[in-house]
Amino acid sequence: MVNRQGRSIALIGMMGSGKSSVGSCLHCRTGLPLYETDEIVVAKFGMSIPEIFAEHGEKKFREAETAALRGMRTEERTIIVTGGGIVLRKENVEILGSRAVIVWLDGDEETLFARVSREQSRPLLQAKDPRKTFSQILDARRPLYATIADFRVDTSVLTDEEVAVAILAKLGRLNPKRKSAVSQKAS
Ligand code: S3P
Repeated sequence: MVNRQGRSIALIGMMGSGKSSVGSCLHCRTGLPLYETDEIVVAKFGMSIPEIFAEHGEKKFREAETAALRGMRTEERTIIVTGGGIVLRKENVEILGSRAVIVWLDGDEETLFARVSREQSRPLLQAKDPRKTFSQILDARRPLYATIADFRVDTSVLTDEEVAVAILAKLGRLNPKRKSAVSQKAS
């Protein structure tokens, strides 16, 4: 592993893996600016994600997602929280890989599904059988997350804070000789 202490931290993973909450914890602990692709896209369209999917379609959403990534500042380190489908486009993967340490938040399927079931905000799960759809999406995406991630954290039995601490500890271990601002704040 090359020295990646100076890079941004990107969170990837399935819906329900806790990317937004963990991103907030990382932001609080490190002081690094936080960018969420979903929030940027929502602000651009001026409507919710279900509304964007309904009115403009998934393709337009995906294009805006890529534009959001492209438009992120590169001159500073940031926390980048992505939507679960960010791995579907090669260009997104290239942008993330060039800028950030990529952390895959994963978990057991039941736990992830239980988390998303509490909300109605995921248009991809507005299906006849959301459980089955979720399973199919997860099966298709897990290899993609695994391929591009620098490391994986299982969030199933951890709180958001614990996940954030685990990420910062792991980043510190990737380069133990040089204590970065991030790892110092985390300790
Ligand atoms: C999506 C995940 C959502 C959001 C959109 C599409 C996906 O974000 O970007 O509904 O394709 O998995 P979260 O992963 O934050 O739920």
